[in-house]
Amino acid sequence: MEKRKLIIDCDPGVDDALMLAFAAAHREEFDILAVTTVNGNQDIEKVTRNALDLTAFYGLKVPVAKGMGLPLVKEPHYAPETHGESGLGTCRLPASPEKAEEEPAVLFLYRILAGLPEEEKITIAATGPLTNIAVLLRLFPEVKRKIREILFMGGSLCGGNVTTAAEFNFYVDPEAAKIVFYSQIPLVMCGLDVTEKCTLTRNQILKLCQSGYPAARACGDMMGFALENTSEKYRGEVSVHDAAPLMYLLYPGIFSGQNEILDVDCSDGPSRGAVLGGFRWWRNEETEANVFVLTDVDREKFQEYLITALYALGEAE
Ligand code: RIB
Ligand code: CA
Repeated sequence: MEKRKLIIDCDPGVDDALMLAFAAAHREEFDILAVTTVNGNQDIEKVTRNALDLTAFYGLKVPVAKGMGLPLVKEPHYAPETHGESGLGTCRLPASPEKAEEEPAVLFLYRILAGLPEEEKITIAATGPLTNIAVLLRLFPEVKRKIREILFMGGSLCGGNVTTAAEFNFYVDPEAAKIVFYSQIPLVMCGLDVTEKCTLTRNQILKLCQSGYPAARACGDMMGFALENTSEKYRGEVSVHDAAPLMYLLYPGIFSGQNEILDVDCSDGPSRGAVLGGFRWWRNEETEANVFVLTDVDREKFQEYLITALYALGEAE
């Protein structure tokens, strides 16, 4: 695979943290131009602090830009029960001396995209609410032609994890998700349909916690927090939702999926944030589909590739 120009938009978040570790371990394959943060698992100050500390801790020298502190319409909805008050469970990382960019993330993203050579395009991997991406597309629609594809963790065709209808990222900002769905940019949806199978087991997490490598140990610590403080303890494994987009970019063969014509419910009712669609077989999905939805993964391969990457960071600090 040629080195892929990549922007990561995230809300770290314990599974975002493992996604960043996976990205840091694949610097040969990804030319990471920026990490942008968005209000989601915790408030924008905390997730930005976490993004700065995580990228420094992993040895990933990349600008971090602070994004939208609120969803487009409704109030924030944080997830301390899964990610803790800090956003990284009880894991304490060295404080990075780096500061976030002066410019807000949306302007920083625009400047990168507008400054690309004519024939170049960027891939966006988004693992939080899609607020930054939606504002970017609304403010600067001309940058759409500079975006190769957007791979996002969000949504679900099989019910929600925050309400019966909605997955967290789509629940926090369904209006943003709708704007992205209607953008006509090539989209890959890594929803709960596939990320519920993108897991690490209790034993794998325990082994990470016992690692002599700081990065692997910290990732085990963060996954351990989710394992012990959420319903995942009953399952004995934790979904590393946010590792799915980059894992698909590198190893598409371990996934399966299909084209779909999808929409998002932005009403105020019990189905707010629900993904609508997935049935109209008589519609021509090739011409009308707006998103490729991942539906299955080889769980063992996912675990092998993720764990290998976490150990590959070695002494990174
Ligand atoms: O539903 C899972 C998603 O919500 C993940 O991105 C997790 O980090 C949270 O943001
Ligand atoms: Ca996330």
